Amino acid sequence: MIGKLNHVAIAVPSVSDASNQYKNILGAKVSKPIDLPDHGVKTVFIELDNTKIELLEPIGDNSPIEKFLKKNPSGGMHHICYEVQDIKEACSKMKDEGAKILGSGKPSVGAHGKPVIFIHPKIFNGTLIELEEV
Ligand code: CO
Repeated sequence: MIGKLNHVAIAVPSVSDASNQYKNILGAKVSKPIDLPDHGVKTVFIELDNTKIELLEPIGDNSPIEKFLKKNPSGGMHHICYEVQDIKEACSKMKDEGAKILGSGKPSVGAHGKPVIFIHPKIFNGTLIELEEV
């Protein structure tokens, strides 16, 4: 079921500071910051040859990463996103295995305009996993 690693998301206090670090220290190719108010985040993508790193800064009220940053003030790895061919199938498989799907429990349109689900970290060794249909 699992395909490629689509991205690793890192919560940061400031996407502009973090993307400057990636650009100036690591020489990475970084995108312009994009505000995604519906998702409560400002995001920057670091483009690597084999995957992407997504930097997330909370914006607005009730940002899903606000609490995470309170616990981890300097930032930290927030989630890993794997690609799947069929998100509905993946969703029912996860439910059959007793995994909790966050939010409505159904696939929703994610930050990249594709259907995604987030799986509660409890079942996957404390790692928040996003599955994205490609
Ligand atoms: Co993501």
